[in-house]
Amino acid sequence: MGRFKVPARIGVTRGSFISLEGGEGTGKSTQAKALVAALEAHGLKVHLTREPGGTPGAEVIRELLLSGADEKWNMRTEALLFAAARAEHCAKLVRPALEHGDWVICDRFIDSSRAYQSVSGLLSDADIMTLHNLGSEGLMPDRTFILDLPGEIAAKRAEARDRGDSDRIGGRDNDYHHIVMDNFRQFATLEPHRVKLIDASHSPEDVTALLLQNLAEMIG
Ligand code: TYD
Repeated sequence: MGRFKVPARIGVTRGSFISLEGGEGTGKSTQAKALVAALEAHGLKVHLTREPGGTPGAEVIRELLLSGADEKWNMRTEALLFAAARAEHCAKLVRPALEHGDWVICDRFIDSSRAYQSVSGLLSDADIMTLHNLGSEGLMPDRTFILDLPGEIAAKRAEARDRGDSDRIGGRDNDYHHIVMDNFRQFATLEPHRVKLIDASHSPEDVTALLLQNLAEMIG
């Protein structure tokens, strides 16, 4: 049996919930913005948000998580803080928006915790999902796009963007980031209906077109 299991979907959402995932430097934030503009042009009400963060309290936790030295938090604390930020974000922004019938586009969500916080081996996928079930009642996106780029290209892009000033987690070594990307790819294999692997080496416009094509039946 594999390390990752398909998480159960708890709760029914009315609006559509889309998450964008992938390693550093894969263009998630650019695509999230482009997606919002395109969906709004279809007349949809869309909220653009991000994790960790998205609400005032969760942004405070983001600062705690991303600043300082790698050893500042042990892995259990780190996973709990991500789950706490997410609980706040889901309760105050994501769920109310979905219940209102709006769309939510989120730059990273639970799959980032599954991909990053499991690397040390201290916490299993089931542990991370337990925290998510407790904190956020197991809310899962309707569709998740993994922006996939060869590791070296993503590393170069992230380097050019951060210029040696990457955050506490982004600054971890290449081996760590390779495992993270492999974890993301496994989610796409395991949950092909929800999780779509998108080749992010195309132009930004072509990547946005791919995402929209993929969402066509949900847009209606
Ligand atoms: P983000 O600001 O999206 O970074 P980037 O733009 O470089 O992709 O995310 C901040 C960092 O937090 C990033 O290194 C990934 C990490 N992260 C986790 O480790 N677990 C999580 O659950 C989330 C949401 C992010």
